[in-house]
Amino acid sequence: MKERILSGIRPTGKMHMGNYLGAIANWVRFQEKAECFFMIADWHVLTTDYESHTSIRDMVTELAVDLLASGVDPDACTLFVQSAVPAHAELTLILSMITPLSWLERNPTFKEQIRELQGRELHTHGFLGYPVLQAADILLYNADSVPVGEDQLPHIELTREIVRRFNFIYGELFKEPKSLLTPTPKIPGTDGRKMSKSYNNCLYLSDTAEVLTEKVMKMLTDPARKRRHDPGDPDKCPVFYFHQIFNPGEVEEIREGCSTAAIGCIDCKKKLLAKLIPFMEPIWERRNALLSDLGAIESILDTGKERATQVATAMLSRVRDTIKI
Ligand code: TRP
Ligand code: SF4
Repeated sequence: MKERILSGIRPTGKMHMGNYLGAIANWVRFQEKAECFFMIADWHVLTTDYESHTSIRDMVTELAVDLLASGVDPDACTLFVQSAVPAHAELTLILSMITPLSWLERNPTFKEQIRELQGRELHTHGFLGYPVLQAADILLYNADSVPVGEDQLPHIELTREIVRRFNFIYGELFKEPKSLLTPTPKIPGTDGRKMSKSYNNCLYLSDTAEVLTEKVMKMLTDPARKRRHDPGDPDKCPVFYFHQIFNPGEVEEIREGCSTAAIGCIDCKKKLLAKLIPFMEPIWERRNALLSDLGAIESILDTGKERATQVATAMLSRVRDTIKI
């Protein structure tokens, strides 16, 4: 039997290279080896953005386009939208009955988010219960492993605690999922800080070749390398970081050239673009094909919903039997 994997991503806008390299590239790799359920976590967006009037529905479609263009293959995995499977809400309610408030209040991700997202009222029932919803996501599919980034580890640990408590109270039903800490290096943005929408330093999958070229050409380099004849330190340069990923064959040559001032930053960036653009082209092609056929996306998500619903409702009815309701 193949291992079963579940992972989720919140639809918070267009996807950037940080999301792609940090999470989605891993999803694409997993779908060959494991039985994968990949979920667009739209209810989770509502826990923080309930006051925002942007359409979560549109963001779901946008994310689906980016995921499919990145190589998430609806024939090799189940791609679905969380809110399309109401069992997630019902299991969340049930798990909330047995989850002590203190477990949620001490959750480091909760505390950090409250600090970071200042100006929003996040002392809500829904936001405190964010990990309970996430536990329901995982447990409905009896997932063996959950690939996540480091910030999500406390949520998987909480899921395991909820499993133990449920099994202790009602009898063995759920299995404890493992977190699969996928290598998620912090991808630098065009200004050298972590790539993040809020820093306005992103390379988006939806950027055209022109926009991408412009962004790369304006990208920060080693700040100490002010003039063409100054040697640089490639390890302080985000351009070099991308060379390591997209241009492994020339990395040593560029390291040498940069640190001896044999190569200039403009040429170095052109070399990067010469690899990056051909890498992106098939992604752009798939994006454009999907965007011109939104009906196809709808039907992919419908199929995903059917498959997810089958698994989730079967689990939910076992839960109801177990708690005798
Ligand atoms: N909370 C996750 C994040 O922000 C997204 C998510 C929702 C998730 N449900 C999940 C991840 C279940 C793994 C498993 O990244
Ligand atoms: Fe960065 Fe390349 Fe310039 Fe070196 S030569 S500082 S690696 S852009």
